[in-house]
Amino acid sequence: MKFQDHAEGGVTVITLDNPPLNSLGHVLRSRIVAAIEVAEVDPAVRAIVLTGSPRAFSAGADVSEFGTPRQMAEPILRSVLERIRICTKPVVAALDGVALGGGLELALACHARVALGQARVGLPEITLGLIPGSGGTQRLPRLAGIDLALTLMQGGAPMAAAQLASTSLFDRVVDDGLIEAAADVARQLADAGAPWPHADRLNLDAEYVATKVSLARQRLNARQRLQPAYGALLDAIGASAGPIDAGLALERARFLGLIGTTEAQALRYQFKAERDSHRLPDTLQVEPRKVATVAVIGAGTMGAGIAICALDATLDVILLEQDETALARGRQRIADHYAGRVAAGKLGAAVADAAQARLTGTCDWQALARADVVIEAVFEELSVKQDVFRRLDAVARPGAVLATNTSYLDIDAIAAVTSRPQDVLGLHFFSPAQVMKLLEVIRGAHTSPDAMATAMTLGRTLRKVPVLCGNAFGFIGNRIYNAYRRQCEFMLEDGAWPEEVDQALTDFGFAMGPFAVADLSGLDIAWRMRRAQAATRDPRERHVPVLEQLCEQGRLGQKSGAGYYRYADGKRAQTTDDTVHDLIVQASAARGIQRRTLAPQEIQRRALLAMVNEAACLYADGVATRPSDIDVVLVQGYGFPRWQGGPVFWARQQDRERLGADLRCLVEAGGHGMRLADDTMLARLLD
Ligand code: NAI
Repeated sequence: MKFQDHAEGGVTVITLDNPPLNSLGHVLRSRIVAAIEVAEVDPAVRAIVLTGSPRAFSAGADVSEFGTPRQMAEPILRSVLERIRICTKPVVAALDGVALGGGLELALACHARVALGQARVGLPEITLGLIPGSGGTQRLPRLAGIDLALTLMQGGAPMAAAQLASTSLFDRVVDDGLIEAAADVARQLADAGAPWPHADRLNLDAEYVATKVSLARQRLNARQRLQPAYGALLDAIGASAGPIDAGLALERARFLGLIGTTEAQALRYQFKAERDSHRLPDTLQVEPRKVATVAVIGAGTMGAGIAICALDATLDVILLEQDETALARGRQRIADHYAGRVAAGKLGAAVADAAQARLTGTCDWQALARADVVIEAVFEELSVKQDVFRRLDAVARPGAVLATNTSYLDIDAIAAVTSRPQDVLGLHFFSPAQVMKLLEVIRGAHTSPDAMATAMTLGRTLRKVPVLCGNAFGFIGNRIYNAYRRQCEFMLEDGAWPEEVDQALTDFGFAMGPFAVADLSGLDIAWRMRRAQAATRDPRERHVPVLEQLCEQGRLGQKSGAGYYRYADGKRAQTTDDTVHDLIVQASAARGIQRRTLAPQEIQRRALLAMVNEAACLYADGVATRPSDIDVVLVQGYGFPRWQGGPVFWARQQDRERLGADLRCLVEAGGHGMRLADDTMLARLLD
């Protein structure tokens, strides 16, 4: 903790000093109290400015203290805030960098707040299944109004102080001269004399708060309703119109009630799992190659999205298409994307123009010679991709990383047509590529460590969550999703209707059920793959032919107006129709199955067991580096509810013996050829 006496006017500046982010661990909390007490008794000090570093006023709680006695050791944050509130000299928070969670609560408990416009403030507790626990739910509504408080706390995303300059959250927002401005405010408060202004003395209009909170409660979506923190947050915010002590007590009670929930544990686990996912194993800890220019081959749905990611990351992008018409189409997609963001006020026009100025469109392969990384996103056909890589091999500069965005094809078969398999790897983006965070980074048999390190680093540059995968069919995500979808099809044969399966899984928290997803992405992709596999499929294997039969009737999903469901005016019918029912009943009869009702719990459990079984198999095969990577993939790429942690996290919550027994039943019912994750494989995954 640094002290720095301000020459004029008796203002002392207390600078929080716990790099890198001034997390409010026990030591820092104690030091703040001590510093306030020293300043309070110093007759030369009339007012206090509390500030942090350019990186952070404070990013909030010290996560390394979670679950340890230090977290709850006095002074806890609430006591620090109380000490500031009762200080006999005014305390002004001066904010730069981030003020998040407890960091913002610290500022809210001061007598005034001054911020640099670029400072970012937020209460992101909801993203960890919690609510602010040190007065945030009470003081933010009092200071900033109920509407902004709801936005910040329910959304969890930070906002720039400049955006909040017109609100009463800040006494002043400045572009520079932060400490001078804060000292000025502090001096004015000292001159005015006690009592200093404080959030706790402000009153809100009780009726208005009640109406807003009740509206917010009605507007919670299905996924938010499944998470206890959302209701608890609204309870606490609702109390902000009443006496402060009662509000703080209610907030505390709700906060403590949430800490131990499975949802909060799962969200903390996901947070850590995502941080871990980009850490390379020791063998790949090498210096990455430099990347300034990325080339993308194919400007279709994926290629355009990938190009946008690279442009947003301020990289130069070369976009190559097979002809001028396709290139113009791709360029238009990108232009439309930026125009949309500018129109929505999400991006400045100058930034959008600068991004597009970094884009070069071409049909000339020689133009790829200056790329540091080339990402191919052409049609999903091995021969087409091999042809592209042959041409690429002839023009790419030595040392360029050559990546394919294939979803299923063998990276080694693609690398084999080049003279440099050490530079070839997979970069599997998800659709829409400019939105989805997940990036599977696939290592071929010959990919060199520095090419992998480059790809993982590029993933971070593109603001993705890169996950290292082995080169096996479907990598991590599609392999598990296929096992899950297959199990859901088995359940149709056993007696469930698609809407029952979809409903049970959305009730578990999936963004969509598997049949609604299939309709959305188009049944023809799976149809094509299944027809290709049909020739080699063992006739003893359990296979549900409904999808193929739907496609044969022209029911390709949403785009053709019908798939598993019917669609009128873009709206999905609640239930499936007779055609679908007839096909399913025929499938059951063909397998000699007496149809029965499947309870939602059984549907959920079987779907999850199928995922866990496949996860254990692929982990045993070395496709994933760590079990938590599997959960990151499912949550980030496949709509698995984040607050359920992922299939591995879910499996760890289950009784192990029963889990093993259920997996055996599942695999037995799955018929010939279905692989069982035995107890050893399961233990490897879960222990
Ligand atoms: P798309 O059909 O929208 O675009 C492919 C583009 O590649 C077309 O514009 C085509 O003109 C161009 N192209 C084809 N051959 C070319 C060549 N020799 N040289 C230059 N350009 C060529 O396809 P989409 O959906 O963008 O998929 C591309 C790749 O991304 C596929 O490998 C696919 O498996 C993969 N992928 C697709 C996902 C999706 O949801 N669409 C998700 C993840 C991966």
